[in-house]
Amino acid sequence: MITAKVQPPQLPKGTRDFYPEDMRIQNFIFDTWKRISLRFGYEEYEGPIFEHLELFTGKSGDEIVSQLYNFEDKGGRAISLRPEMTPTLARLVIQKGNAIKKPFKWFSIPRLFRYERAQKGRLREFFQLNLDVIGTESIFAEADLISAIASMLLEFGLKPTDFLIGISSRKLLSTYLEEIGTPSAELVYPVLDRRLKIGPEAFAEALTAIGLSEDQTKKIDSLMCCKSIEDVRGLVSSPASIEALKEIEDLFDILTSTGFGECIGLDLSIVRGLAYYTGIVFEVFDKGKSMRAIAGGGRYDSLCEKLGGAKVPGVGFGMGDVVLADLLRDHDLLPTQKQTLDLFIASFTLDMKKIFKTANLFRQMGFNVSHPLSPIKLGKQMELANQQGASCVVYVDGENAKEGEFEFKDLIKGTMNVGSAQKISEYLR
Ligand code: HAM
Repeated sequence: MITAKVQPPQLPKGTRDFYPEDMRIQNFIFDTWKRISLRFGYEEYEGPIFEHLELFTGKSGDEIVSQLYNFEDKGGRAISLRPEMTPTLARLVIQKGNAIKKPFKWFSIPRLFRYERAQKGRLREFFQLNLDVIGTESIFAEADLISAIASMLLEFGLKPTDFLIGISSRKLLSTYLEEIGTPSAELVYPVLDRRLKIGPEAFAEALTAIGLSEDQTKKIDSLMCCKSIEDVRGLVSSPASIEALKEIEDLFDILTSTGFGECIGLDLSIVRGLAYYTGIVFEVFDKGKSMRAIAGGGRYDSLCEKLGGAKVPGVGFGMGDVVLADLLRDHDLLPTQKQTLDLFIASFTLDMKKIFKTANLFRQMGFNVSHPLSPIKLGKQMELANQQGASCVVYVDGENAKEGEFEFKDLIKGTMNVGSAQKISEYLR
């Protein structure tokens, strides 16, 4: 009987495989993220990869709801893979209530899922570093987070001229909208968020459609185009707007005096797509803005309350791995590391049992050790040692080695030596 040829399995759209060479890059990104998060005093947390659907449908906004990977589980529950971490964090905060001392600073590197149109910089499965400060309304929390973003990007080797952290304020946008008498800010934000994507005509039309006058549209446009705090001062007049502007000014002062002045800029065209932001919002782009956002975040003081908990202020950001890796690749900042090993165990007589025993001895001493998995010729063993990035080869049966000693070759210097396991250990360290 002739059977049809089976099609080889395909990678699902918008996902990635991580071969070891990709995993090394991923680890380099994660290690840097973790190192700087810890350097700033953030503690790591995690949550489940799926949650009850309603955690995401309630308070995050329509865009993200339309991108959910949701399903019914075998118990008939409505479940969704997590598209972002913030609702999970809010759930964790609500669950423990006063048992967690506030304020606190946490970080996480979740794997997230969004049913987006897969394109450069946007995938359906990605990782996102999240840093959040919970339990304080102080602007120093925003300053801490933005300092961490700048420090991280500089640590990756980028220069302050390679990226810009654009800072805006939903508080200022909402007080200004009130000042010029528009309908509720919640209705207007989604349109403001699409301003640059849809162009000036469609923007004006969309605002008209929700009841704004031509004059109000012009005023909003002028505010969003402001390049400096001085420009904004010339536009706003209500005490609430002046107070919101003062907050932005304070944040700029702190960040400039810390040394990050070159990395930040005022950008009131930033509104953010997620519905829960209430105060300062920010987004990070490459300097030429040729890529999608590298990171984005802001203050969300009512999220916990809206999800059924007490009112607990929060502020944080997410930085995705996809655009970041593209940017680092463009600047030649991704490592081209190969696999590395401390030791490769070889045998002149192809004595596999001795190889296994010796490898075990050195592994117990804490070294990363590999060896051939079948009795292959010495030349092939050396090829394998080089391919696996070993810095030293230990021979289990060298003629010049006494009982309890090994001949060993330093593959970097090319020198041959003889010594006990202890001596080899000291040599390697
Ligand atoms: P977000 O703006 O939706 O914010 O995502 C933040 C970052 O995650 C983006 O700037 C981008 O780097 C990355 N990202 C988002 N979607 C994708 C995708 N489909 N493919 C690849 N990367 C993507 C949030 O998620 C907020 N929860 C962040 C936050 C934390 N706000 C407060 N705390």
